[in-house]
Amino acid sequence: MTRTGERIVAIAGGSGFIGRAIVRRLAGAAATRVRVLTRDPARARARFAGAIDNVEFTAADVTAGAHLAAAVAGATAIVGAAQFDGYPIENPARGLTFERVDYGGTLALIAAAREAGIGRFIYISGAAANEQSAVAAFRFKGRAERALREAGLEFTIFRPSLVYGAEDRVVNGIAQALKFAPIMLAPGSGRQRLQPLLVDDLAACVALAIEGRGRNGIYAIGGPDPMTFDELVRLVMEITGRKRPLIHLPEAALRAAGRIAEMLPGALFSRDAVDFLVADNACDIAPLIAEFGVTLTPARAGLQYLAAR
Ligand SMILES: NC(=O)c1ccc[n+]([C@@H]2O[C@H](COP(=O)([O-])OP(=O)(O)OC[C@H]3O[C@@H](n4cnc5c(N)ncnc54)[C@H](OP(=O)(O)O)[C@@H]3O)[C@@H](O)[C@H]2O)c1
Repeated sequence: MTRTGERIVAIAGGSGFIGRAIVRRLAGAAATRVRVLTRDPARARARFAGAIDNVEFTAADVTAGAHLAAAVAGATAIVGAAQFDGYPIENPARGLTFERVDYGGTLALIAAAREAGIGRFIYISGAAANEQSAVAAFRFKGRAERALREAGLEFTIFRPSLVYGAEDRVVNGIAQALKFAPIMLAPGSGRQRLQPLLVDDLAACVALAIEGRGRNGIYAIGGPDPMTFDELVRLVMEITGRKRPLIHLPEAALRAAGRIAEMLPGALFSRDAVDFLVADNACDIAPLIAEFGVTLTPARAGLQYLAAR
């Protein structure tokens, strides 16, 4: 039951890494109730450490569209931040693909928004989104964006570069590997470009978009410090005080490993995952800053939580 004047924001993927940051941000806003759409409400609730007020957890699966309109009913805005388990490594045998969960899920949420009369949709896309891309991850982000642009809803699309934070997998994975491994492995040349973005900065922009900022726009969003993958790893080494030799795994060798892994059960690795790892994720954040007026956290400051680990 909602209190009078309270608005509801429904968020698919609200139990995920980026989703949790958005949920925490929105739950702290005045007169806002957040509804996390999740396949497993109890498990999703448990992913939030401690009590979290103004948040409800509703069973919903974006790949099983029929019930979605009921799940989002009463909301004033939807945030799409769902992604399949184990991404970016697809597992078609289990239906875990960008096409089915990211693109198909976005189509289902758009249909639910229209059916339930919800006018605003915020979509978490990706820096390399491109309908023409040969890489499924980027192609289906591009197609999801197009579907949203053409849906007749008010929308804001964010295209994040690599997103980090105390609960992320990639940067924490690097820091964890540095703890235990005598060397550090980097995919490809290590020169792929990134703009690491603190997850709280993304959440702050999503909160502004829910208020109407960036309406009907697509915004690349990354941190203020462009860097290569190697430079990111070296920064993590410096902050954690764990310097290791950096060894590059050639792209061709990774692709060969991906080809073999695709023939094995279990979807441990794939050629598409290689494309994902070696892709450039730099972005022009000038339009974002002009529209949202945000000050983005420098990587060195944002990554300081690693120093204590
Ligand atoms: N992390 C990054 O650096 C980054 C960068 C650029 C773009 N992105 C994009 O940002 C979005 C969020 O990424 P993330 O890293 O936060 O992902 P994540 O931590 O893996 O979370 C994925 C979420 O998707 C939900 N989900 C999965 N399948 C679902 C289904 N069938 N129905 C409903 N919900 C489902 C999961 O919720 P339940 O398990 O509770 O159902 C989970 O909360 C993704 O679209 C990703 O491509 C991420």
